[in-house]
Amino acid sequence: MEIIDGKKISSEIKEECKEAALKLIEKGITPCLAVILVGNDPASSIYVNNKKKACEFCNIKSLSYELDENTSEEELLKLIDKLNDDDSVNGILVQLPLPKHINEDHVIDRISPLKDVDGFHVNNVGALCTGLDGFVSCTPAGIIELLKRSNVDITGKNCVVIGRSNIVGKPMALLMLRENATVTICHSKTVNLKDICKNADILIVAIGKPRFVDSSFVKKDAVVIDVGIHRDENNKMCGDVNFDDVKDIVSKITPVPGGVGPMTIAMLMKNVIKASERY
Ligand code: GUN
Repeated sequence: MEIIDGKKISSEIKEECKEAALKLIEKGITPCLAVILVGNDPASSIYVNNKKKACEFCNIKSLSYELDENTSEEELLKLIDKLNDDDSVNGILVQLPLPKHINEDHVIDRISPLKDVDGFHVNNVGALCTGLDGFVSCTPAGIIELLKRSNVDITGKNCVVIGRSNIVGKPMALLMLRENATVTICHSKTVNLKDICKNADILIVAIGKPRFVDSSFVKKDAVVIDVGIHRDENNKMCGDVNFDDVKDIVSKITPVPGGVGPMTIAMLMKNVIKASERY
């Protein structure tokens, strides 16, 4: 069994971004990401801080907009318009979730697709669907990097994705399809989940339930990617996969922490560099 080291691979990607940023700076382009946080959700604050720290490491300038919980949708859209029009801003990220009185679809739709480094805008989702170039959602893009840099062959493999969210499950399935896997998407209404998973050469789990997937779901020598992040009753971090139960069956597996988690921010940095190079 091999543990896929997301910490190491994400560091390599951030180093690559750092070098790419220096090259851009030499050409007179300072890569710049605007990060918008509305309200004071503690988890979101931590994510946003980590994104700003990664920017600093990669020589990417970050602009931080921390708006009051009561900010109106109109005010937020106005700020997005301003950043869309600002040539010194290459990427715009609005941290989700937003307060209930703000419609997330309106907000995502307003971000220029050319600055949508999260890859959430319908134009970028459509580009992924049809095979055009665009920005891809960071977590699924990071999983493709983990697989490629761990020498996992994807072509022709049976890939099962558990979860159908717009941020992870759906783009993940499209990316695996683009890599020529045979893809099955499972979700809460799937019948015979276990039997379908048992058939997977590559099993990607984003179900949001701590240690849900055990050895009875996993084929011998499968590659297992765990997207979940939870704290168990002892405050210990765990994923959607019961690591100890499956570790002797799998060929490769991502741990939690240190697997998929660090890749999301690394791919965000990569998207900011791409946005800056396009500019
Ligand atoms: N909230 C949870 N994940 C994400 C993400 O990838 N991007 C943004 N903007 N918000 C999130």
